[in-house]
Amino acid sequence: MPVNLDNTAPLSWKNATGDDDTMLQHLQPNILKGHVRDRLHILILQFADASAGRAFLSGLVPLMKSAKTALEEADAFNQHDTKGTPYVGVGLSKLGYQALGLDDVEFHDEVFKKGMKHPDSVAHLGDPKKEQWQQEYQKDIHAVVLVGDHDPDPADARLAEVKALLTDSITVIAEETGQTQRDDAGRAIEQFGYVDGRSLPLFLAEDLEAERDTMDGTDVWDPFLPLGRVLVADPGTADSGTDFGSYFVLRKLEQNVRAFKAAEEELANALNLTNDDRARAGAMFVGRFRDGTPLTLQPKAIGHTPVMNNFTYGEDAAAHKCPFQAHVRKTNPRGSGKFQDPEVEKLHLMARRGQTYGERTPGVDPESGVGLLFMAFNSQIDQQFEFVQQLWANNTGFPAHDSPPDPGRDPVIGQGSRPPQAWPLVWGEDGTQEVPAPAQAVTMKGGEYFFMPSLPFLSSL
Ligand code: HEM
Repeated sequence: MPVNLDNTAPLSWKNATGDDDTMLQHLQPNILKGHVRDRLHILILQFADASAGRAFLSGLVPLMKSAKTALEEADAFNQHDTKGTPYVGVGLSKLGYQALGLDDVEFHDEVFKKGMKHPDSVAHLGDPKKEQWQQEYQKDIHAVVLVGDHDPDPADARLAEVKALLTDSITVIAEETGQTQRDDAGRAIEQFGYVDGRSLPLFLAEDLEAERDTMDGTDVWDPFLPLGRVLVADPGTADSGTDFGSYFVLRKLEQNVRAFKAAEEELANALNLTNDDRARAGAMFVGRFRDGTPLTLQPKAIGHTPVMNNFTYGEDAAAHKCPFQAHVRKTNPRGSGKFQDPEVEKLHLMARRGQTYGERTPGVDPESGVGLLFMAFNSQIDQQFEFVQQLWANNTGFPAHDSPPDPGRDPVIGQGSRPPQAWPLVWGEDGTQEVPAPAQAVTMKGGEYFFMPSLPFLSSL
């Protein structure tokens, strides 16, 4: 049976047979399910010589593993605490395919083909002009290599093995190191201090079962997405039927933590929030409290374990609890966007795999040097990542609703000039106050669109 990308029943990797099983053995890890990567190295590469570039990439394959092996390792870890092996992932930009002499590999994603620096993408996304990006990222980017593990030592050792394969004609344009930040309860957080990586689309039956049975359930919000929202037939291996890859978005997003915290204080002051209720200011920016408690469900952080995700905004249609503009409501309206059929709206979601970067000094809120290495897998970049950034986060009129003013931009990631925004004064009650929008505290420093091809494609180079 051919792999069914539109199947409305999730794939069980444990019971996969035939083409489904081969697909999992040929696919890179981290696409269908996030690979554990508390330490993550990222190498951004440029090739000056096609055959040396190809030799490097095929030489990487023995250091890599398949999605199937990664799933088996994760299962063994859950059941017996057996540690897995490091993850090595490889992506190529369109320029990268050209630099390897592979112009004839035919991609259908127009946004990928143009690259993130193309003026169309810069304009759609509201990004800074290329000349303002971090210098390294202004160069032509051909490939990305990710090396991750739960622990630093295996990740560092595997990185050394990858680097040993580099030759003179391959330039490391930029190198990033991501390290998971955790709060006092051990939850993974982003640099502003909020739990991140909780709400993700799930593609596999085992992950959906675990979400239903061991997390807070899936009866209100079902995180299932069909494989076709993340997988694309690998155009480099001519219709094999079992070789798949995914479009990979990488963006270095610098976070001005001091500015964000000042904005939280300013909003709390402007709305006269007192005591515990002051934490609602930041929660209104994000849509969740720092500990992940969804603002639409609770007026205060309740430290619920597991962090809740089984919710929609159905009970909060007027946004008296969670404002329309809150980051998580903008980037996933969960069917309340008044925009499209909820099932169609859901198809814009993407598999986020971000990682924080930068050293933090305890007690210091940095203005620069720290941020998020935003990463996401897509099957159509213009319908997923670009759509969400441009037509939801940056769009002052989204989501459309009955009473003015417009929601304004996403306070966390919205790019462009920011009109004033209305915020609920009292959680769950009528009455909002219009306040100048918080200053932009996230700056795009550079990035690229890649395709993460199948392992047989890499071996064939
Ligand atoms: C520095 C930049 C960013 C920060 C600090 C940030 C922070 C967060 C936080 C704290 C959450 C809540 C945790 C969760 O639900 O998993 C979240 C969720 C999310 N973010 Fe971001 N994010 C950033 C960039 C982006 C970008 C660039 C996009 C896409 C254009 C994005 C899309 C999403 C989506 C889709 C969700 C899940 C919403 C849901 O399903 O409820 N984020 N983000």
